[in-house]
Amino acid sequence: MTSAWKKSDWRSKERIQMPEYTDIAALNAAESRLSSYPPLVFAGEARSLKAKLAQASEGKAFLLQGGDCAESFSEFSADMIRDTYRVMLQMAVVLTYGAKVPVIKVGRVAGQFAKPRSGATETVDGVELPSYRGDIVNDIAFTEGARVPNPKRMLQAYTQAAASLNLLRAFSMGGFADIHHVHEWNLGFANAAGTTDKYKELANRISDSLDFMTAAGVNSGNANSLHTVNFYTSHEALLLEYEEALCRIDSTTGLPVAGSGHMIWIGDRTRQPDGAHVEFARGVQNPIGLKCGPTTTVEDLKVLMSKLNPENEAGRLTLIARFGAGNVGDHLPRLIKAVEEEGAKVVWTCDPMHGNTIKSTTGYKTRPFDSILREVREFFEIHKAEDTIPGGVHFEMTGKDVTECTGGVRAVTDEDLSDRYHTACDPRLNASQSLELAFLVAQELEQRVVAQREAV
Ligand code: PEP
Ligand code: CO
Repeated sequence: MTSAWKKSDWRSKERIQMPEYTDIAALNAAESRLSSYPPLVFAGEARSLKAKLAQASEGKAFLLQGGDCAESFSEFSADMIRDTYRVMLQMAVVLTYGAKVPVIKVGRVAGQFAKPRSGATETVDGVELPSYRGDIVNDIAFTEGARVPNPKRMLQAYTQAAASLNLLRAFSMGGFADIHHVHEWNLGFANAAGTTDKYKELANRISDSLDFMTAAGVNSGNANSLHTVNFYTSHEALLLEYEEALCRIDSTTGLPVAGSGHMIWIGDRTRQPDGAHVEFARGVQNPIGLKCGPTTTVEDLKVLMSKLNPENEAGRLTLIARFGAGNVGDHLPRLIKAVEEEGAKVVWTCDPMHGNTIKSTTGYKTRPFDSILREVREFFEIHKAEDTIPGGVHFEMTGKDVTECTGGVRAVTDEDLSDRYHTACDPRLNASQSLELAFLVAQELEQRVVAQREAV
């Protein structure tokens, strides 16, 4: 965050995974429109999230980050937002109960539109077309016209993000998230019997505690923390024209802030220390996520930490580990060692999704629930062995009853995948699988709490 930094500096760096717009007049028009629009978030909110993440870096809070792989224009509806929000509230309750610390709720939402792709083109039945790069860039339909990058799509993404954020703020502040509704959040979900029973049992225990508190004079009317929640937004800051146009100067601190969302992250494919994406992220004061994969070297990580967090501010940098089940032991210890050697303050979180994508026997891109679970367990085990802090989890999930990841208590099979496979990009956990996973993470956290108590 140097004073010499300018929001357009990324333009002189190597850019990858970004579209080559051909209609430059249309691009300039969209950028100037966006630049004149209000930012989606306020810098003070980004700072308060950073302060909470600082707590997570010390084990005094836990980060739950989740949502779509890619938000889509066609699947946009109030129900869709509500269902994902509701399952995140349920997961947060489960995790809070296990971890005994506040759970920081961050959606992959209201801006998660641009996608990096493994190939620049895609071939279907011998026809080769440019890859789909997320609804903010082009259209998923497999036609030549649909795949042309259209800068006007940035304006639609902004509008959708603003409407999503508006509803999320209403849910968070208007009573939907009041902890007294803990039972109702479960209604209407096709959860597996075992998970539903476990959730009901937990909700009963919470209701008991709330009854006690009411009797003691603490209720939603006089304790705001029972009535409202803080819910934050995040996305991969991949499309830098959009990010630059929404970057603003925070009037309170005089520092630049990404106005596109509370937290932004740098993907595993665009984390080159001298690349355009790192250049943009280093200059804004928001909390920054950095994906760390099997190809992240110790040298690169050290350079990235000093570029992205030169003042070693707690809560500024979240390292999102995504190695794949069975690979965590090969990579996480060396990266933890690098962090410790630098004395760097980071939040370590586990993304057990992106290292576990496979092709099913029926041809669908999927992720086996068992691999997801195994990676989470390996992440916790290694942190225990290294005596470092597992600070959070990062999931691709939805509140809908989709069939995209295989396994779980309700056992989605390869054959089931075609039933309700709706994702615009990667396979997501459905509501039932998300809640089941939350219980398993809570178990890991509970063991940590017990071990800490015993150590005292
Ligand atoms: C993502 O989070 O959707 C993503 C593309 O992840 P990664 O950069 O880790 O592959
Ligand atoms: Co994804």
